Amino acid sequence: MAISKEERKVLLKAQQGELDAVKMYNALAKTVTEEKDAEIFRQLAAEEGRHAAVFKAMTGEVLKPKSTKAILLPSLYRVIGRKKLYPMIAKGEYDAEKKYISVAARFSEVESVKNDEHRHGDMIMSLL
Ligand SMILES: [Fe+2]
Repeated sequence: MAISKEERKVLLKAQQGELDAVKMYNALAKTVTEEKDAEIFRQLAAEEGRHAAVFKAMTGEVLKPKSTKAILLPSLYRVIGRKKLYPMIAKGEYDAEKKYISVAARFSEVESVKNDEHRHGDMIMSLL
């Protein structure tokens, strides 16, 4: 399926977001004190990696992960604690799900990515 310039922009942004999320979840897994949390974050990192690969297959671009969230979120964990931080992370996942609805309507390979983001939000909330 041909990808328009505008769609390509959306896909590249999604790809970057997924790559950054891999780094963020791996950083969180190393920071958190509960082993169960670390295990879930490692699993989420792996799934975001699959998402990045889905978008990479569509854009054909190799992007570099950015560290901003991988630095910010472990710091926030230390300052505000998991009870306040995890709902914020879950909200990010639910927002990603909403953002992907229109992308998935156009590209069927994004459907499972969209569904994963909802499950991720639920998994994070279930840690609390
Ligand atoms: Fe994702």
